[in-house]
Amino acid sequence: MSTSADSVSRPRVLILFGGRSGEHAISCATAGGVLRAIDRERYDVLPIGITPQGRWVRVADDPDQWRITDGRLPEVTEVPERVLLPQEVGSREVRVIEPGLPAADLGTVDVVLPLLHGPYGEDGTLQGMLELADVRYVGAGVLASAVGMDKHFMKVALAAAGLPIGPYQVLRGTDWQSDTGGIRARVEALGLPLFVKPARAGSSLGITRVTDLAELPAAIAEAQRHDPKVVIEAGIVGREIECAVLGGRSGARARASLPGEIVVTDAEHTFYDFEAKYLDESAVSLQCPADLPADVTARVQDVAVRTFESIDCEGLARVDVFVTEGGEVVVNEINTMPGFTPYSMYPRMWQESGIGYPELLDELLQLALERPIGLR
Ligand SMILES: Nc1ncnc2c1ncn2[C@@H]1O[C@H](COP(=O)(O)OP(=O)(O)O)[C@@H](O)[C@H]1O
Ligand SMILES: [Mg+2]
Repeated sequence: MSTSADSVSRPRVLILFGGRSGEHAISCATAGGVLRAIDRERYDVLPIGITPQGRWVRVADDPDQWRITDGRLPEVTEVPERVLLPQEVGSREVRVIEPGLPAADLGTVDVVLPLLHGPYGEDGTLQGMLELADVRYVGAGVLASAVGMDKHFMKVALAAAGLPIGPYQVLRGTDWQSDTGGIRARVEALGLPLFVKPARAGSSLGITRVTDLAELPAAIAEAQRHDPKVVIEAGIVGREIECAVLGGRSGARARASLPGEIVVTDAEHTFYDFEAKYLDESAVSLQCPADLPADVTARVQDVAVRTFESIDCEGLARVDVFVTEGGEVVVNEINTMPGFTPYSMYPRMWQESGIGYPELLDELLQLALERPIGLR
């Protein structure tokens, strides 16, 4: 109903991170980068962590504590207290409950910055909770978050919008056990190699590159450790190109950055797997901007913005594509809360495109503060 945030001179930003997904540590690392860079003259900051068990707690406003150092992954730890977000319309009050004490007030919040990756954060569940209480937040809404998280419905939405995607099959629950022969035949038609993925995960968790059909059962079992729904894709031969998209201000169209490229340089990694992403820096080189002909760059940017629009995305997203030898652009996925440490591709692509990290953060918070609450 209301159209803009209350005219607060220094909006209070609740920075939310950690969480129940397999990407807990990556979320903490992102929060470290944000806590370091956010302009504290402009914003009042309240960092809140979510433990791997799902408990919300107050955490240190200390960037160093949340870094990935020497392969050590940061984690939000359990403490006896619980932080409660506003749960009803008209209250923007955050409270904390400690055993044996009356609930204490942590003040009101103007906007939530959900730096959460994966299920229970990037998938629309958290967004739904914030919508229920009329609390503003950065990034995609309920539907776009859910569609972006689910590699099956993402493809359905992209195909419906006429965007280029590769061939794939979907397995649900016990499909594999109940119809192994039929599924094997459907999957065989995709050729080799195959990529077997949990439908709703990220950071390459649970993904196997299958080069022999004999490996298929183990690959499905591995994916199902993360999600009962599994997507099996034909391997695409092409360069891995990423493009950052940022929502438009005051109703303008979303903007695309210069694309970047992921080059896996170490043959130990046959694709951009979890270790290559976070633990083995020497295994990949991130090139930004990507060395592409001008017409291919323009096509990647056009596909990226249309992908963003096809799921009604808001705020930010990173669109990852393959560019084949013939210059064809095939969408791999959209990430509605991409890695956001200062070294991550999303901020780096904007840096190369003229928007530095603190300015990018500011832009995202302003987009969230200017956006109306309720149905948009
Ligand atoms: N169909 C495919 N063809 C070739 N490589 C793929 C394919 N799907 C995934 N990959 C490789 O696996 C990586 C992770 O897959 P992706 O779908 O992006 O999952 P996540 O959401 O975990 O990042 C990609 O960055 C790419 O290196
Ligand atoms: Mg990916």
